[in-house]
Amino acid sequence: MEVVIRQDRRDAERYTAHFMAAFVRSHPGCVLGLATGGTPEAVYAELVRLYRKGEVDFGAVTTFNLDEYVGLPPEHEQSYRHYMAARLFNAVNIPEERTHFPDGTAQDIAAACRAYEEAIRQAGGIDLQLLGIGRDGHIGFNEPGSSLASRTRIKTLTAATIRDNARYFGSEDAVPRHVVTMGIGTICEARRIIMLATGANKAEAIAAMVEGPVTAMVPASALQMHPDVVVVVDEEAGSKLRLADYYRWVFEHKPDWQRVVR
Ligand code: F6R
Repeated sequence: MEVVIRQDRRDAERYTAHFMAAFVRSHPGCVLGLATGGTPEAVYAELVRLYRKGEVDFGAVTTFNLDEYVGLPPEHEQSYRHYMAARLFNAVNIPEERTHFPDGTAQDIAAACRAYEEAIRQAGGIDLQLLGIGRDGHIGFNEPGSSLASRTRIKTLTAATIRDNARYFGSEDAVPRHVVTMGIGTICEARRIIMLATGANKAEAIAAMVEGPVTAMVPASALQMHPDVVVVVDEEAGSKLRLADYYRWVFEHKPDWQRVVR
């Protein structure tokens, strides 16, 4: 894993957006895996800004989102399709038919999950996956205890995640209990992964993911087995990393040809 520690939240968000934009520039027909939540909001805003300046073109990009709530129709304000439309898709030139979400309204959810995996395969697999991380170490909505080999399927949210997401729904009771999420096995098949984590409340999850044992109790720790992961944190989210000085040194001394963002 490459750990990139940026000075503050804005800088970490900007780094992530510019990394993604550089990737799209060098792989114009790429397949992006996308995340929702509070963390990537400013990343999408920066991508929209770069698009408007003519610095990135999404015309040939395909996207697959990590997850969706069960039972929320796409037009529901808290559905992740709605989130993505409001923050990115409506503002850039990604063709709508090339944006994909797990179907949380399907009659047969298991069949819809199989179809989602098949659609990712048909598209050639995910080239770059953007991830956030839950305070409990979840990626996608793979809560602690999820199989590290899991595929897209229905999951039940933990009480902690329901509490965290209640801020969007007004109350804990309004948060759907179930979600459809790419599995950890699905996520780990992406060719490249970039994770963004900001704020002190992510510090423990980041330390456990990067420096702790690989365990289903910290689903993100499965990324230690992946050959191409960049973890972008601000000082706060990186504050519990034991090897923080080492990561800083490595980053500062990286040769220019290895730098995606300058
Ligand atoms: C969202 C997702 C989740 C979030 C995580 C952190 O698509 O997959 O894993 O990345 O819950 O959420 P925030 O960014 O709101 O702290």
